[in-house]
Amino acid sequence: MSLRACVIGWPIEHSRSPLIHTYWLSQYEIDGVYTREAVAPKDLKSFLNRLDEAGFAGCNVTVPHKEKVLTLVDHADDLARDIGAANTLWLDGGMLRATNTDAYGFITHLERTAPNWNAARRPAAVLGAGGAARAVVRALADAGVDEIRLSNRTRARADALGGAISRLTVADWRDRDRMLAACGLLVNTTQLGMTGEPALEIVLDALPDDAVVYDIVYAPLETELLAAARRRGNRVVDGLGMLLHQAVPGFEKWFGVRPEVSDALRNLLLADLGAR
Ligand code: ATR
Repeated sequence: MSLRACVIGWPIEHSRSPLIHTYWLSQYEIDGVYTREAVAPKDLKSFLNRLDEAGFAGCNVTVPHKEKVLTLVDHADDLARDIGAANTLWLDGGMLRATNTDAYGFITHLERTAPNWNAARRPAAVLGAGGAARAVVRALADAGVDEIRLSNRTRARADALGGAISRLTVADWRDRDRMLAACGLLVNTTQLGMTGEPALEIVLDALPDDAVVYDIVYAPLETELLAAARRRGNRVVDGLGMLLHQAVPGFEKWFGVRPEVSDALRNLLLADLGAR
């Protein structure tokens, strides 16, 4: 019988995970399938209870289920609990386990694109305080960043996130431009700048021109933030690599092969982004 995995969400049509996993299944000649499953919030518990019976080795989890699944699985690891969200589930001897691979995807893409990004050990600035920001902050703390400066429109959310991490300081949203002084990295984790969303308004003047600017938005691939950063000579990191790398651990758990994020795969996703 074919190995099976899927991505669950509500709605789910937008998910690009099937494109990534189906590409790898074919590349590694694995007899497996990866499908999109539309699961309404009211059906989440019963869907997960029947995952094994339905023949799935596990699944990816996307909006709006990433937080809720933590209460429904048998075991969520420390990373998923700290971040407060899981995106990868797998069955392990009948036990349903959960982790979060966003922090891994974020940092792996950064290390590959700008390997010496933290060589000068300067502060990192992060915009946003949602689930993506929690994964990014956790990844930066684990990577040894000594000072993380966080700014979010709703200050209380940034304060709540900061409470758990001593090396994190919070700046008001109106002070986000000034927060960039002396930073070696700026990360946008909000959806501002994404197609159909408002623009991210930020002035980069205070940011050193050898800093790295990373936008986790990948549609468009070159956001206004990255275009502005590129114009003033900063190195830029786009959001597509994070999407690709976060998929690696799940594929390995379900299908038994650790897949490679290749240029060919990236080009496939780029073509799909262009076509939509
Ligand atoms: P995710 O889990 O994908 O990070 P989220 O939890 O909805 O999504 O978080 C979205 C982030 O984008 C938040 O930091 C949000 O700011 P608030 O906490 O103030 O809501 C930020 N965001 C969304 N729209 C915004 C806007 N128009 N201006 C500023 N920040 C915005």
